[in-house]
Amino acid sequence: MTKVLDVRGITKRFGGLTALADVSFDVSSGELIALVGPNGAGKSTLFNTIAGVFPPTSGQILLEGVDVTGKSSHALARLGVARTFQLVTLFPEMTVLENVVHGLHRHTRLAILGGLLNLPSYREDERRGAARAEAVLALLGIAGHKRERASELPLGIAKLLTVAIALATQPKLLLLDEPAAGLSHEEATRMMDLVSTEVRKRCTVVLVEHNMRIVGRYCDRAVVLQFGRKIYNGRADGLVKDEAVVNAYLGVAEMD
Ligand SMILES: Nc1ncnc2c1ncn2[C@@H]1O[C@H](COP(=O)(O)OP(=O)(O)OP(=O)(O)O)[C@@H](O)[C@H]1O
Ligand SMILES: [Mg+2]
Repeated sequence: MTKVLDVRGITKRFGGLTALADVSFDVSSGELIALVGPNGAGKSTLFNTIAGVFPPTSGQILLEGVDVTGKSSHALARLGVARTFQLVTLFPEMTVLENVVHGLHRHTRLAILGGLLNLPSYREDERRGAARAEAVLALLGIAGHKRERASELPLGIAKLLTVAIALATQPKLLLLDEPAAGLSHEEATRMMDLVSTEVRKRCTVVLVEHNMRIVGRYCDRAVVLQFGRKIYNGRADGLVKDEAVVNAYLGVAEMD
């Protein structure tokens, strides 16, 4: 299988703090993998280095075999890396549909001048963008909310919207930072049912999740970090039997 992502010996230091220490793993096309670890383990930092928010201190990141280490987040977005953030990031005054269309605009950098001049090509792009946005909302079952303001959405719908915005850019690799965190059991199930079906059909997915039951049920594989080091890379349903992982989580309530 083709490797979509190949993380090779990534180290990230913030001053004297080593947030990631020589982390390596790869992700094959079509996989759904979980990135797991206690608070502060380095999960979001790893997402930030893969998505180009900041470069690693050392190591390499390859996307479909091409070295993309140090490229900007815009460049990586154009190359097919999309992500959601741990905290919901939406334009609160915009509607659900406008949020998705805006994300597409930023992604495709629709010609602003074309928009000002109201050129036919711009109008055509606009029409196509709106159609794609509507299709993604329908796919995730939230088209019924499309005219609602983002600020008025319940968290479960707002989080699905952040996934819709990312998915609308038709990424190769989608990084979801705690998509189910903060959701009720029903909302989390709805999210994960969609991620493991409609979303994974369309792209390779790496997601951060604390709950081992969710990871074991939905993910193919798990990579576990502790203090910035990889301590596990294997079957998602084998996590709860792994001594190093169990020890890393001792005293933490999320093993249930
Ligand atoms: N921009 C930054 N500048 C300085 N330190 C940072 C920065 N980002 C993260 N860190 C530190 O790096 C370590 C890893 O943080 P990170 O946010 O990656 O953990 P995490 O695994 O995502 O944790 P959580 O489960 O709480 O989201 C922490 O000690 C954090 O304080
Ligand atoms: Mg985090």
